[in-house]
Parts: sequence; C-alpha cells; structure tokens
Amino acid sequence: MKLKLRLSRTTLIFGGTAVWGLFLLGCVTANRTMLVVPHVPGATLVGDKACKECHAEQVDKFANASHAKLAFADPKLGTTGCEACHGAGSLHVKAGGTTHTIVNPRKSPEACFECHLEKRGQFSLPYAHSVSNGNVSCSDCHDPHKGNALMGTGASLRTQTEGCAECHTTQKGPFIFKHNAMKEGCVACHNPHGSVNQKMLKAPDSNLCLQCHATGSAPGMLFASGRDHAGNPVQGTCWVSGCHEAVHGSNTSHALRF
Ligand code: HEC
Ligand code: HEC
Ligand code: HEC
Ligand code: HEC
Ligand code: HEC
Ligand code: HEC
Ligand code: HEC
Repeated sequence: MKLKLRLSRTTLIFGGTAVWGLFLLGCVTANRTMLVVPHVPGATLVGDKACKECHAEQVDKFANASHAKLAFADPKLGTTGCEACHGAGSLHVKAGGTTHTIVNPRKSPEACFECHLEKRGQFSLPYAHSVSNGNVSCSDCHDPHKGNALMGTGASLRTQTEGCAECHTTQKGPFIFKHNAMKEGCVACHNPHGSVNQKMLKAPDSNLCLQCHATGSAPGMLFASGRDHAGNPVQGTCWVSGCHEAVHGSNTSHALRF
C-alpha cells in the first residue's frame, strides 16, 4: 500500500450487523471500500475499553500505534481498534479470556490481509518469508500495538537492520570491510515480503548492484565505481565466486570477497 496523503472513506462491516466507520489515509482510490473484520462466530463488538481490564499493556500503548489512527469512535462503544485485527470480542470478554474466542494474527496473517490485500500476493511469490504456516509472522517485523508499525521509523527504537539481524545474525556483521550499501538497510537489495527472484532479491542480476554503482558507460565499456567492468559477466551476477561474493561485508577484502 503506497501511503499518499489523500483521504478516503472505508467502512468495516462485522457480521452484517455492526458497521464501523474509519478513515483510510492513502490507498488506491478515493472510493468507499468495504472490509470485513476477522470473523468470530456469534460475537459482537465491545470496544477497546472492554479489553483494558485484562490487557492494559496493549491498550495503554496503543494510542501512538500506526493502526490507532484508523479507528474512530463508535458513539456507544468508543474506539474499536483492537477488534479490527482480533475480531469481535464479546464472547472472549464474557468467558474471561479464552484462546478460541478471539483471533490471534500470529497464528495466521489472514487478519492482516483483510486490509492489506496486496500483501497476500507478495507472500505468495516463489521466494518469500513463510508467514502462512506461522514460521515467520508479520509481527516479527511489525509492531501492531505500539509506535510505528514499520521498524526503524517514528517512535520505533529497533532499526530495520537490527530487526532482520535478530534472525539473520551472519549478515549483520561486524565486518572489517563494511559494505556501505547496508546503511540503506536490507531493503536496498531484498523485498522482505517476497520476490520472484531467489533470496528475495530485488533484481536477479547485476542491475541489483548497478542501481548504486553505475557510473556511466561508453561504447564497449561499462563502469561500476569508476572501473570498467565490460570484460566481466555483467549480464550475470556481480556476486559470483571470485568477484564480490561477500555482498554483506567481508573480513578479508575491501573488494568484498571471502
Ligand atoms: C494491526 C493489528 C492489531 C491490532 C490493531 C491489535 N493487535 Fe493485538 N495482536 C496483533 C498481532 C499480530 C498479535 C500477535 C503478536 C505476536 O506475534 O507476538 C497480537 C497479539 C495480541 C495479544 C496476545 C498476547 C501477545 O502479545 O502475544 C493480545 C492480548 C492482544 N494482541 C491485545 C490487543 C489489544 C487489547 C488491542 C487494542 C488496544 C490490540 N491487540 C490491537 C495484532 C493487532
Ligand atoms: C476478563 C479478562 C479479559 C478481557 C476483558 C479480554 N481478554 Fe483477551 N485474554 C484474556 C486471557 C486470560 C487470555 C489468555 C488465554 C489463554 O492463554 O488461555 C487472553 C488472550 C487474548 C489473546 C490471545 C489469544 C490467542 O489465541 O493466543 C488475544 C488476541 C486477546 N486476548 C485479545 C483481547 C481483546 C482484543 C480484548 C477486547 C475485545 C480482550 N482480549 C479482552 C483475558 C481477557
Ligand atoms: C482494519 C484494516 C487494517 C488491518 C486489519 C491491518 N491494517 Fe495495517 N494498515 C492499515 C491502514 C489503513 C494503514 C495505513 C495507515 C496510515 O496511513 O497511517 C496501515 C498501515 C500499516 C503499516 C505501515 C505503517 C506505517 O506507519 O507506515 C504496516 C507495517 C501494517 N499496516 C501492518 C499490518 C499488520 C502486520 C497487520 C496484521 C497484524 C495489519 N497491518 C492489519 C489497515 C489495516
Ligand atoms: C523471525 C525471524 C526472521 C526475521 C525477523 C527475518 N527473517 Fe528472513 N528468514 C527467516 C526464515 C525462517 C527464513 C527461511 C524461509 C522461511 O521459512 O520463511 C528467512 C529467509 C530469508 C531470506 C532468504 C534466504 C535464503 O537462503 O533463501 C532472506 C534474503 C531474508 N530472510 C531476509 C530478511 C530481511 C531483509 C529481514 C528484515 C526485513 C528478515 N529476513 C527478517 C526468518 C526471519
Ligand atoms: C521479514 C520481515 C517482514 C515481514 C515478515 C513482514 N514485513 Fe511488512 N515490511 C517489512 C519491511 C522491512 C518494510 C519496509 C519496506 C521498505 O522500507 O521498503 C515493510 C513494509 C510493510 C508495509 C508498508 C509498506 C508497504 O509495502 O505497503 C505494510 C503495509 C506491511 N509491511 C505489511 C505486512 C504484513 C501484512 C505482513 C504479514 C502478512 C508483513 N508486512 C510481514 C518487513 C516485513
Ligand atoms: C547490497 C545488496 C544487499 C544488501 C544491502 C543485503 N543483502 Fe542479503 N543478499 C544479497 C545478495 C546478492 C544475496 C545472494 C548471495 C548469494 O546468492 O550468494 C543475499 C543473500 C542473503 C541471504 C541468504 C543467505 C546468503 O548469505 O546467501 C540472507 C539471509 C540475507 N541476504 C539477508 C540480508 C539481511 C538480513 C540484510 C540486512 C542486514 C541484507 N541481506 C542486506 C544482497 C544484499
Ligand atoms: C544502496 C546502494 C548500493 C547497492 C545496491 C550496492 N552497493 Fe556496493 N557500495 C555502496 C557504497 C555506498 C559503497 C562505498 C562507496 C563506494 O566505494 O562506492 C559500496 C562499495 C562497494 C564495494 C567496495 C568498493 C571498494 O573498492 O572498496 C564493492 C566491491 C561493492 N560495493 C559491490 C557491490 C555489489 C556486488 C553489489 C550488488 C550485490 C552492490 N555493491 C550493491 C552502495 C551500494
């Protein structure tokens, strides 16, 4: 979802009875869109206040969360932001809190896909983090409850690279010879949601590197970082063995070799 500052109206419907209004910032069109909150059979909306009694931590911090902006108050229930992801909570509250009466998106990303439709497609690409089987969860990379849902932005303290490195320790380094591309974050080269290219790369070939390193061309020549690479297999990858295979950083060579 590209976030543009344009207001559009979205209505959330639950079970054909309760109708929620909420404002969407951004989105593709300015038309009304209908979204269905995760379905919990037989339950009705109760509002965030009802959750606070038992989940004060989530409710108190939620005010500054990306998704808190979306929910606006229902005249009777107050804000209903929690139930946008967790489904209607009346049965869960009545039972004093049980697992089968509420949706936990850690177990399935479907709750997120309700609104982020295009993400379902990205995660279905041949190379993607496996969120559908719960191996990796949206919440490993996005905090739904507090601060900005994007790592390393706004009030979120964990940088994006630190977040990725919690699982991918070897790519983070430290390295004696750093690759300054890493300063741009892992997303300079990877699409973390999924890609048609192996290793979730943004491009399968030297174009991945030339997005930063192309320094011009002349007939029969191709410059990368000022050096003519025309004799090299530039149509292939720059990270083949013997060239720059240590793309994340190297401990042996400033030219990023192992
Ligand atoms: C943007 C979607 C979203 C919203 C909105 C949301 N949650 Fe969650 N919630 C999640 C996800 C994802 C998880 C799983 C967290 C994990 O993987 O650790 C979760 C987990 C939980 C849990 C289980 C305990 C835990 O941390 O694992 C509780 C309790 C909870 N949420 C309460 C709330 C309350 C209360 C609100 C409203 C203030 C709320 N949530 C709003 C997505 C959301
Ligand atoms: C009366 C106390 C109480 C209230 C009110 C309450 N919960 Fe819970 N909730 C619990 C308890 C206890 C658990 C742990 C259940 C377990 O692990 O067996 C829980 C678990 C959860 C989970 C995790 C479920 C899972 O499958 O892992 C979520 C999500 C959640 N609550 C969301 C909410 C939301 C949203 C609200 C408000 C609509 C809410 N709760 C209101 C007591 C409550
Ligand atoms: C009720 C609809 C809805 C649901 C459900 C929902 N989102 Fe969102 N989400 C949005 C909208 C709308 C935005 C754009 C917010 C804005 O412009 O500030 C957004 C923004 C985001 C962002 C970008 C935040 C930013 O500040 O740029 C992330 C990341 C995100 N959502 C992840 C998730 C995850 C993960 C889940 C499931 C746990 C989820 N969303 C569930 C509607 C939803
Ligand atoms: C919760 C742990 C976790 C986090 C956080 C995480 N990953 Fe992953 N990553 C995995 C797992 C597990 C796999 C293997 C594929 C799968 O099961 O999803 C993987 C696979 C990959 C692969 C493909 C590896 C291969 O050999 O094909 C790349 C590239 C990758 N992740 C990049 C990232 C980036 C970039 C981030 C941060 C935006 C990130 N990962 C955050 C767990 C994680
Ligand atoms: C491996 C880490 C990782 C996982 C898992 C992950 N995301 Fe993301 N997501 C990111 C990163 C990193 C960005 C920022 C992308 C950028 O800066 O180019 C992002 C951006 C977003 C955005 C805002 C920008 C956009 O692309 O629309 C949304 C919405 C979003 N993610 C939703 C989700 C949802 C929903 C899930 C689960 C189905 C999910 N993400 C799982 C790492 C992840
Ligand atoms: C300059 C581009 C670039 C950046 C930035 C980058 N990667 Fe990579 N990454 C690659 C390339 C190219 C490969 C494929 C290497 C191969 O196939 O031998 C790769 C492979 C991987 C793999 C698969 C295992 C491996 O080493 O082959 C993981 C996991 C990974 N990257 C994670 C990350 C993480 C986490 C970050 C951020 C800390 C990151 N990458 C930043 C280019 C990059
Ligand atoms: C996001 C931008 C970016 C991307 C993408 C990128 N690099 Fe870099 N790279 C840099 C920067 C910045 C430096 C340090 C300044 C310089 O030497 O140009 C650097 C330095 C290098 C160096 C060290 C040059 C020297 O003489 O010390 C090599 C080798 C290198 N990159 C190879 C690659 C390869 C291979 C890829 C593709 C997998 C790649 N880079 C992708 C930004 C990038």
